[in-house]
Amino acid sequence: MASKLAALGGDPILAPGSVRPWPHITDEDRRAVAETVAVEDLGQKRQENEEGLAADFAAYLGVKHVVPVNSGTAALHCAVGGCGILPGDEVICPAFTYWATAAAVLHHNAIPVFVDIEPETWTMDPARLEGAITERTRAIMPVHIHGMPADMDPIVDVAKRHGLKVIEDCAQSHGARYKGRLTGTIGDAAGFSLQASKLLTTGSYGGLFATDDDAIAHHARLMQYLGEVVTPGRERAEQKYIHYGMGWMYRGDVFGQAFARSQLKRLDSNNDLRRRNADLLSELLAPIPGVTTPVVPEGRGMAYYSYTVSFRPDQLGLDVSPEEFRGRAERALGAEGVPVGRWQAIPVPSQDIFQTKGGYGRGCPWDCKHYSGNVSYDPAQFPVTLEFLRSHTYVHAVWPPNGPELMRQIANAFEKVLRQPEALMQIEMG
Ligand SMILES: Cc1ncc(COP(=O)(O)O)c(C=O)c1O
Repeated sequence: MASKLAALGGDPILAPGSVRPWPHITDEDRRAVAETVAVEDLGQKRQENEEGLAADFAAYLGVKHVVPVNSGTAALHCAVGGCGILPGDEVICPAFTYWATAAAVLHHNAIPVFVDIEPETWTMDPARLEGAITERTRAIMPVHIHGMPADMDPIVDVAKRHGLKVIEDCAQSHGARYKGRLTGTIGDAAGFSLQASKLLTTGSYGGLFATDDDAIAHHARLMQYLGEVVTPGRERAEQKYIHYGMGWMYRGDVFGQAFARSQLKRLDSNNDLRRRNADLLSELLAPIPGVTTPVVPEGRGMAYYSYTVSFRPDQLGLDVSPEEFRGRAERALGAEGVPVGRWQAIPVPSQDIFQTKGGYGRGCPWDCKHYSGNVSYDPAQFPVTLEFLRSHTYVHAVWPPNGPELMRQIANAFEKVLRQPEALMQIEMG
């Protein structure tokens, strides 16, 4: 007889504390931060850590310029400004992303225009781009969401034909590869997040801007420090207090940079472990009806920042909506000790700021004199995004040091829950 669901009073499959947290911190990471705080002259460390992190990540990517900043959003904003986007210009973004992608566009008084995603990879659908391009479009901003590289060849092809820049949002894709090329090296410029949950992290907040283009890099460096280029830690010696244009205070943090430099040494091996965990979990979940696992097309070296599953009540002969079924499955899996949950609740264009075109207030930037368009943010334009948001949940556990034993326990919990659809339908959802 099947064992009673934990949500109905049975014993959970996973013991408390089974899932180890991310980031996985080693003694090497601890030493790196301790060495930073051990010195008398922190100014010297500021220079060493920022220049070191920039050089290490540039070497990792194989690009000429990396600028450490204080968030992924700041890195993306530097990319937008660096690429010469001006107030009133349009930038095409996917409707399914964290809203920081579009915020980085708005921060430059430019206008995000959204396109829907591909049904299998959840990344920007290149087939939708031509329909979204106007005479005001200046850039395309693909997002390698969940660590899944967007389909860059057709995106770059459309951009070239229309004279547009390509800005890669790599907040979730450090080390992911598209047809062998690292994400962040394919477009004109890229922004990476180093926030605590990310594949490469400072342990708190941070970001990295990257480009091969000297002019874009120079502009980004000016934006990062209030319009001046000054070596960190050498402000007194170098700063002239002459500012060359608009700038922000986006400088990164010395301790977080030490941590991220140390973590960078294990980025590829950590990503390999994530991939192995994710592949095993997909293999174990494949025979279980009612759930489908990520599809990774040929040529996409996914980095599994996130692992998602989709629920299919029809496979279990249940006449309930995917949304209702997902809610019940999440409740049941959570009670079994599996860390499941949702991420985005609505498409980015459904957010209030786009629905009201509120922006900075007074309708800016949509009512600004430099914007001559009238972009629509009707959510009905993004059916694939809406469908994804209705049916998916995230399994927060594929990162190291979690391993195959945990993946087996998680798969057992799915098996227990989905093999008892009638019991699932009895769970109190109030
Ligand atoms: C897709 C995407 N873009 C941009 C960002 C912004 O990065 P940050 O939070 O470091 O500003 C994030 C962060 O979660 C993200 O997931």
